[in-house]
Amino acid sequence: MCGIVGYIGPRKVCDIVVRQLKKMEYRGYDSVGLAVVNENGIKTIKTVGRVAEIEKMVADAELSGVCGIGHTRWATHGEPSEKNAHPHSTNKVSIVHNGIIENGEELKGWLESQGYALESETDSEMIAKLLDFYYDGNPIDTLRKVSLRLEGAYALGVLFHDAPDAMFALKKESPLIVGICDDEKFLSSDLNAILEYTNRYFVLEEDEIAVIRRNKVEIFGTDNEKVEKVESVANWQAGVTDKQKFSHFMRKEIAEQPCVLSNIIRKNIKGGAPDFSADGIPDDYLRKFRRICIVACGTARYAGLAGKSWIEKFARIPVEVVVASEFRYMDPILSRETLVIFISQSGETADTLAAARLVKAAGTSAIGIVNTAGSSITREVDYNIFLEAGIEVAVASTKAYIAMLAALYLLALKLGLLTGNLTNNVHFLCNEFMDLPEILEQLLADKEKEIEEFAQFCLKFEVVFFAGRGLDYLLALEGALKLKEISYINAQAYAAGELKHGPLSLVTKDTLVIALATQGYVLKKTVSNLQEIKARGGSVLLIFKAGLDVPRELLSDSLKLPRVEDNVTPFLTAAVLQLLAYHVACAKKLDVDKPRNLAKSVTVE
Ligand code: F6R
Repeated sequence: MCGIVGYIGPRKVCDIVVRQLKKMEYRGYDSVGLAVVNENGIKTIKTVGRVAEIEKMVADAELSGVCGIGHTRWATHGEPSEKNAHPHSTNKVSIVHNGIIENGEELKGWLESQGYALESETDSEMIAKLLDFYYDGNPIDTLRKVSLRLEGAYALGVLFHDAPDAMFALKKESPLIVGICDDEKFLSSDLNAILEYTNRYFVLEEDEIAVIRRNKVEIFGTDNEKVEKVESVANWQAGVTDKQKFSHFMRKEIAEQPCVLSNIIRKNIKGGAPDFSADGIPDDYLRKFRRICIVACGTARYAGLAGKSWIEKFARIPVEVVVASEFRYMDPILSRETLVIFISQSGETADTLAAARLVKAAGTSAIGIVNTAGSSITREVDYNIFLEAGIEVAVASTKAYIAMLAALYLLALKLGLLTGNLTNNVHFLCNEFMDLPEILEQLLADKEKEIEEFAQFCLKFEVVFFAGRGLDYLLALEGALKLKEISYINAQAYAAGELKHGPLSLVTKDTLVIALATQGYVLKKTVSNLQEIKARGGSVLLIFKAGLDVPRELLSDSLKLPRVEDNVTPFLTAAVLQLLAYHVACAKKLDVDKPRNLAKSVTVE
């Protein structure tokens, strides 16, 4: 939610800040702006819309300096408008903010009593006004005084009018990193906006203030004492944030999935058996749990549901999957025998992070299944299983979801071994999994045309149901989320057996049901449910697995997946559903990578 960037160095500041903003646009695209400081003070430009707009304005504005900050916004307080866009500047300071200030009303009253008139509807403007009020020529003292008045979450990039050779940063809860090169430095909400220039960075911790100059970065803790930081080094490459030959990041990320699976196989399968030693997780640690609780949001939670199914099947350990935003407020029962697993692509999702902090405070064991190394959630848990999916840019998660499924599948096998439930089967189940990269590669190559045709067919419907049983139901949930998220078609998922308990009343000739039938043991039941839909005039598009005996009347609109073991079909079904959603959105000429109202990395509650 909202991307913050900053640059100080010898290159043209605006050009670099705009380039950084382009990399950060997936975090929000309601408005955009930047500010540059030089010996004549601060200049700010901002506008509603995308980074391309500010790029045009930069070309006309004469903005020079060695130091600049930028912001791309996902609106929380106040509509997307120029006055609500960041940076928020006064004569003395300019700020960019990611987060939410929770005592805004109180601060507003106080600022007004001090003679400040607020021009925007944002909570962020109050931070600029507070800094203006307290500024006494000492940026660190001023930032600290202001931080003591703020409640909520914030990552701030700040310029002071009389300090043109430095940018300042402060953070609480929202993520912020400082990219390091010899004679230039970068500020960013995440790795995306620095990787083109450097893979070395400092992660700012709670309440730290950074003073960032061309040749040095100084970081101060809560007592304003200097903190010695250890540099982090990213192993992601800059090139991964280009679309390459693809029209959209989402399509590129779908294509990368076989490779993502291969990476996880290389890391987490040794001698034909699951192995988490590369993630540093000892078997003795995993052996001790009698109950598991998976906490995540959105797509990550749907991956968690598949994880529950595999863990319960292979290890017979009871698993509960909880929406992170609910977990925090439900007074969860946590015991010494409970393992909590947090799943997150970004590692920064505010709801999941808050839950992780709660679990840590309770002293309960926890692991993260996270894509972004160095992200906040990874620092709140005992161990992490890193997903090795590389940066995911499209707002709709695809390759990270597949990687989450893979990590959970292998973890379930590992727990199955450790509990003694799976001794004979584990090599077979691992082998089935190891075949997937090749099968998936072939599936993506073979089926795209067919999927495009189905996408055209889907366009006729305003309401689409997804249905399936067992693992297919869990995939239906994800398929419906993908379709609604990027194509704006009202899509709902149901356990196929539930349709007759209510939703069937909605089925008419204008209803499309995308049905999943890959699980042999419930095929007959699913088929009956689909016949009930057809009998009521609904259309069915069937995704089924080769080798299953599907009645002829359901085959007219169908797509056949290769024959694989039931437990690993989700990896194939997921890719087909992603491609289907992608082609529907393309056919509707929508902004596939940046769907309306959404943003990647949801760092507000
Ligand atoms: C949907 C999607 C979201 C995320 C959710 C959690 O395609 O991407 O539902 O899965 O916002 O994000 P992470 O995984 O970063 O915690």
